[in-house]
Amino acid sequence: MSVTVRVPAKVNVQLAVGAARADGFHDLANVFLAVGLHDEVTVAAADELRVTCEGPGSDQVPLDRTNLAARAVELLGARYGIAPDVHIHIAKDIPVAGGMAGGSADGAGALVACDALWGTGASRSELLDICAELGSDVPFSLVGGAALGTGRGEKLEPVEVGGAFHWVFAVADGGLSTPAVYREFDRLTPVAPAPEASPALLAALRDGAVEALAAELSNDLQPAALSLFPSLRDTLATGVEAGALASLVSGSGPTTAFLAADAASARRVADALLASGVCRAARVAESPAAGATLL
Ligand code: C5P
Repeated sequence: MSVTVRVPAKVNVQLAVGAARADGFHDLANVFLAVGLHDEVTVAAADELRVTCEGPGSDQVPLDRTNLAARAVELLGARYGIAPDVHIHIAKDIPVAGGMAGGSADGAGALVACDALWGTGASRSELLDICAELGSDVPFSLVGGAALGTGRGEKLEPVEVGGAFHWVFAVADGGLSTPAVYREFDRLTPVAPAPEASPALLAALRDGAVEALAAELSNDLQPAALSLFPSLRDTLATGVEAGALASLVSGSGPTTAFLAADAASARRVADALLASGVCRAARVAESPAAGATLL
């Protein structure tokens, strides 16, 4: 018997970053939006814990116990006294090391899949606790939709979204390390104000107002990501020249995100990005998308 769970990527429509805390993490006001690019995580009983991965960029995915999917299965097994002897297979479609929470999605997916495989019946809040232990973005991968994340990003409140938004994601050649981007943020930002969610941005999401959302997109990690990966400036400019309403770096990057007026415009922006050679791939996707879902 095997169980498969579908998990979405995310874009941060606002990422407000405060000063580094004593534990090394940064306080955030992080407005997550799940987007329709998905990984599928399948688990089945096996002789020992094993991870395999297929799809674009899968050669860069760690297959050892540092993989968040493997750690998720170990944490759930430890709580319920079950040996984590499962084969986890990840069918990857979310850009790897791209700032779209692909690794976090796999963690949330493996957790929900193993909960079903083993019949552990963990409560939603138990699953969310395990997700928070796995990483700052993992709880959101479980819930999907849209949410405001505070603390280091793991404390979630749902955010209302009043319509569909159309996005293009430009996949860069290479990845960026999230800790390195936060270190660069610290270097560039000697005094960071306390992070707060933008009321205008939350209103734009609630109203499904694409122009208003375009005007409010912001990412405090963007200067740091551009400093470490300067060619992203060209990518951002190319998408806007091709008709995107706004552009920003997705999370810690190096994937760049473009908000389009509608699906046809998104397709044109994606074609222009690909034709210009400023990115390795360009993907269109709609938001919001559901969280981790059993197939
Ligand atoms: O929580 P996660 O394991 O995804 O975080 C990866 C790294 O990103 C952390 O080790 C830390 O360097 C940085 N980070 C941070 N503040 C946050 C979230 C992540 O500094 N709120």
